Amino acid sequence: MTHFASHLMDQIRSRFAGVDTCPVQGERIFFENAGGALTLNSVVETSKSFAAIPDNQGRANTGSRHLNAVIAKAKADMARMTNAKSGQFFMGESGTELLFRIIMNACLHAGSGTVLGSTLEHPATRSATARWSKIAGMTQKLIPHDNATGHITAEAYSAAVTPDTRVATIVHTSPVTGMGTDVAAISAAIRAKAPDCLIIVDGIQHAAHGGIDIAAYDIDGYVISPYKMFSRHGFGLAWISDRMQAIDHDALIDGPANAWEMGTRDTGAYATLSDVVDYIEWLGATIDPDDPFRAAATAIKAHEKALTDAMIHGTGNLPGLNDVPGITLIGGADNPHREGLVSFRHAALPSADIVDQLNASGIRTHLRKDDHYSGNILGPLGMDACIRVSLCHYNTNSEVAAFLAAMKTISERATA
Ligand SMILES: Cc1ncc(COP(=O)(O)O)c(C=O)c1O
Repeated sequence: MTHFASHLMDQIRSRFAGVDTCPVQGERIFFENAGGALTLNSVVETSKSFAAIPDNQGRANTGSRHLNAVIAKAKADMARMTNAKSGQFFMGESGTELLFRIIMNACLHAGSGTVLGSTLEHPATRSATARWSKIAGMTQKLIPHDNATGHITAEAYSAAVTPDTRVATIVHTSPVTGMGTDVAAISAAIRAKAPDCLIIVDGIQHAAHGGIDIAAYDIDGYVISPYKMFSRHGFGLAWISDRMQAIDHDALIDGPANAWEMGTRDTGAYATLSDVVDYIEWLGATIDPDDPFRAAATAIKAHEKALTDAMIHGTGNLPGLNDVPGITLIGGADNPHREGLVSFRHAALPSADIVDQLNASGIRTHLRKDDHYSGNILGPLGMDACIRVSLCHYNTNSEVAAFLAAMKTISERATA
């Protein structure tokens, strides 16, 4: 199976807010999912109803007990969906804040040795390891990613890891190249030489694109940003292992052991995670009711691959990006690691102009520049900028066709 059948696609799309309309701009095609995926209608409703509740958690009254139950259910739902068999989930200000906090505590706990990561990583991780390795008296080592594939392998980690590696970081998927990494294989490569290393994974770009299996990864931390996984803005979510939760961290004196949450939590935000899990479970059950999460992950991947293949190689009589003279695709045309994202540039047209012209045609993409966010990818390629087109499983082949038609007009105009 590649594309979702059209009746299922209609059902999928009906569950999301703003699927073809922006409340400000009006009708538009949404290919800016890496900046924030569409929000489930159920998440909008849940957020609204919880926003009206004044009660706090942990009180001896019915309303308060309900809030605690909602949070416990959300954590249990997330554990089911991500196959987390131990450890705990907790909420923070954002994905960035959680990566900083977990990496800080891991480095301060380790106190010596090496912090190993890669140049593929988002600056949230690279900045946190740079800062906290220095403060903790550790050495930061960054493995260069492969420029041609926009990817990093377990072999590259294996060649770089040393027995003194006490903290290691892995990006599950790059938000600039769109390539996913093999977290289980990288983690195994690290543990082969540094078995007790604390391994922290940035899953923020991966989370919407098909499956998280925490038990299979043998890691100590996994961070997501729920607004990039069909929930909403305003919070981040982390999972940490039993080992990680026990290390020294900011907490209230005499408070509950192993509590990592800072102050009163947003129950409504937690409740939206159950909405996300319900949705993925519903989607998967339409394919395989016995194993819905795996089925959903497989189907999402297949659908997104069909869309990115169409974007790269064309659909109907429309040429794909790979057929347009002057276009360079980051990571190449047929990259097996691609997760729903295509970044490219045109030799004769500034990327900013292409993003503007696509916007004028009602197609929302994003400009990535050689700056503190994307310079790690674009700098080594000698690119000052690129256009990022990011999809999710609710995007359709006809949206890709509209994008390719707009690109055809834009590139013909440039060469006329
Ligand atoms: C891989 C990755 N890491 C970290 C971040 C930062 O996430 P946030 O802005 O939600 O803190 C992003 C944001 O897109 C990302 O894609």
